[in-house]
Amino acid sequence: MGKKVTVVGAGFYGSTTAQRLAEYDVFETVVLTDIIEGKPEGLALDLNQSRSIEGFETKVIGATTGVDGSGYEAIAGSDIVVITAGLPRKPGMSRMDLLEVNAKIVRGVAEQVAKHAPNAIVIVVSNPLDEMTALAQLATQFPKNRVIGQAGMLDTARFTHFVAEELKVPVGSVKTLTLGSHGDTMVPVPSRCTVDGKPLSDLLPAEKIEELVTRTRNGGAEVVALLKTGSAYYAPSAAAARMAKAVAEDSGEVMPVCAWVDGEYGISGVYLGVEAAIGATGAKNIVLTDLSESELAGLKEAAEAVRAKQADVAGL
Ligand code: APR
Repeated sequence: MGKKVTVVGAGFYGSTTAQRLAEYDVFETVVLTDIIEGKPEGLALDLNQSRSIEGFETKVIGATTGVDGSGYEAIAGSDIVVITAGLPRKPGMSRMDLLEVNAKIVRGVAEQVAKHAPNAIVIVVSNPLDEMTALAQLATQFPKNRVIGQAGMLDTARFTHFVAEELKVPVGSVKTLTLGSHGDTMVPVPSRCTVDGKPLSDLLPAEKIEELVTRTRNGGAEVVALLKTGSAYYAPSAAAARMAKAVAEDSGEVMPVCAWVDGEYGISGVYLGVEAAIGATGAKNIVLTDLSESELAGLKEAAEAVRAKQADVAGL
């Protein structure tokens, strides 16, 4: 049997994720759901009609769901569920401003996922990311390795883009890394940033690197300010879809993701942005990297900031 992946939420993030997953042509079925009557069905029909042009056989199924759980039969037996349901930011909002409203949505969705797709690996993308990932684990009661969040792939990709633009080099020659939270306590890891294998610090002055780090940290807000009516989705969906593909193919690819950290880096019991090997069981294991003293201090600070907020979501 081929793999089945579900994307919950057929807004900008969800629909572009579904498109990418279908175009990979590695899944048997992509299910797209939303509470807006007809929207997922319409998008699924449209995507299916692109199959002969793009050359993929994956079938896309759209399903409208109700908050009472109606329609969720469509996700039955999913190997992977990507949760994109929730409100995006408006200009001037921080991701944390979405906490209460998205907590209700994500909790409701996660409960249905636990019921209808009890063996799925869950990839959360709704914001605020670290908190919604923790909440999805609580609400599903799935083993912690089976619930992961998408943030680090995106933040790292933004950082990489800014470095490539600054140095006018191909994006493929740049490697960067960010850890920590998807927000104010994002932790760039300059010691792991290279261009054609050369340390970034040999190529750019410290102030310039700091400027690019700041732009990366505010990368989502910069897009929101331009769009005015929503948040980014091309780079985010690319990141989420790659994570889902790594799970489906059990690739073991090491990616920066939001994963349960318990003991690694001397940090315990919190969902945090770290590198992990991604495969059929979700986050197979956390992969440690050498951090400088200040990078490690930043990661610990991020852990404490998200720990406090993750404790709050338990009651939402
Ligand atoms: N079940 C399923 N879908 C839902 C639910 C629910 N309970 N509640 C809301 N949705 C749907 C909305 O109907 C909408 O179609 O989620 C979709 C969200 O789409 P957009 O408003 O286009 O937002 P998007 O850009 O896709 O962002 C989704 O990802 O990056 C984060 O901060 C962003 O939390 C936001 C999420």
